[in-house]
Amino acid sequence: MSSAKAQDILVKQQEYSVKVRELLMQRYTHMPLAHVHSFGCQQNISDGEHIKGMLAQMGYGFTDSPDDADFVLYNTCAVRENAEDRVFGNVGNLVHCKRRKPDMVIALCGCMTQQEHIAQKVKKSYPHVNLVFGTHVTHTLPEMLYKTLVSHKRTFDLSDDIGFIVEGIPVHRDGNIKAWLPIMQGCDNFCTYCIVPHVRGREKSRSSRYIIEEARQLVADGYKEITLLGQNVNSYGKGLDEDINFSKLLRMINDIPGDFRIRFMTSHPKDCTRELIDTIAECDKVCNNIHLPVQCGSNRVLKEMNRHYTVEAYLELIDYAKKKIPGLTLTSDIIVGFPGETYEEFCETLELIKKVRYTNMYTFIYSPRNGTRAAKMPDPATAAEKSKWFREMLDVQAVINQELMDSKVGTVQRVLVDGIGKTGAPRLAGRSDDNTIVEFDGSSDLIGKFVNVQITKALNWAVFGEII
Ligand code: SAH
Ligand code: SF4
Ligand code: F3S
Repeated sequence: MSSAKAQDILVKQQEYSVKVRELLMQRYTHMPLAHVHSFGCQQNISDGEHIKGMLAQMGYGFTDSPDDADFVLYNTCAVRENAEDRVFGNVGNLVHCKRRKPDMVIALCGCMTQQEHIAQKVKKSYPHVNLVFGTHVTHTLPEMLYKTLVSHKRTFDLSDDIGFIVEGIPVHRDGNIKAWLPIMQGCDNFCTYCIVPHVRGREKSRSSRYIIEEARQLVADGYKEITLLGQNVNSYGKGLDEDINFSKLLRMINDIPGDFRIRFMTSHPKDCTRELIDTIAECDKVCNNIHLPVQCGSNRVLKEMNRHYTVEAYLELIDYAKKKIPGLTLTSDIIVGFPGETYEEFCETLELIKKVRYTNMYTFIYSPRNGTRAAKMPDPATAAEKSKWFREMLDVQAVINQELMDSKVGTVQRVLVDGIGKTGAPRLAGRSDDNTIVEFDGSSDLIGKFVNVQITKALNWAVFGEII
């Protein structure tokens, strides 16, 4: 039923796409250019690649500079206040571009604009923005753009979740070595601090046949790394009409012939099973790095966060994974200063960090988000206190990180070369299986290939070595 509806939507949008293309051909003597910038997480980056796919189909080329663009689109993130501030700063700057080029179409979409109060703010205070839409109608971009171009009126579409995924949207990928592959959308977890379920809707998994088809095509196109994306990939398969879970999906992708590697994010500890750990250990193409955000190390705070696991269960899982997966590296997200968190509770997070020994952590000071449960909780710790705790955590992590980096000296790492190194040619850079940045000297035709590198030196952000 929903797949028939999705097909109808796709056909209709393809018709609009042709209409936009014809309109652009009448309007411009040059190839119209689009500037698309996605903020936020990899899911959003991947959405941006689908947006670019639709724009390419409509006849747009792409530019890195908003100044040169006929169409500017910011695909926004709402996860923390500073993410939103950054977007408003960028949109403000576009006033000058629009003054010079009154035909320029400016659009805002994504998680931030799915919120009514943000859409209202744009309506009132940013009159140069022509088109605003939320996360649930991205696939109707051809139709929205056509209406905006023809009517010269401002368009706002914050429609609700349609409840199913529209397959077949074209993709214009940013790279040709590594690819993002979304396996699901939305989130059902409602962690109390988090805006994502409010702006992205309910969790929906893609049928495995579409995912496998896309993965096969990526391998055939020469991609060497596929990262499976979802807000909680571990609960993949819920609600699908097939006997599948994330472990099974990983095995199916692992079975695709070819020399490529598989990564995935994000894993939620509550759904990370031993079956999944065994699968990672047994699948040769699945990398030995897991991003397993713990958020904090206090059971009381975890409960308030609605995370559904305890510190003890998390540590047991980590122990099991470390035993099963040789050379495993772990990364995490941590929130400091959740409402009501005390210094003693924060110290429990430090203890957990010391026990797990993450190679990398994405660390955030809690930011209240409109409409979430945590935003209504009493929050007595001051911003200054939270910043102090935050710096304390970074100091603890810096020592662990350096020790882990140093421990790689003398090892041989299999590296996927993805570009020129920071200091320029002949220095190349890539990532090891465990996701460490590795730099070494080599010829640029190695870019896109796997090489073995003997590690001779470690800094805090990368290790260095020689090809063997
Ligand atoms: N679905 C993923 C990631 C979601 S957003 C997961 O569950 O891990 C990425 C990270 O942003 C979260 O893991 C969390 O650490 C952080 N985050 C989310 N909401 C936040 C908030 N209100 N304030 C500070 N950090 C937040
Ligand atoms: Fe947000 Fe929690 Fe969902 Fe992650 S699992 S997106 S932190 S609600
Ligand atoms: Fe941001 Fe939306 Fe991702 S809020 S983190 S872009 S899902």
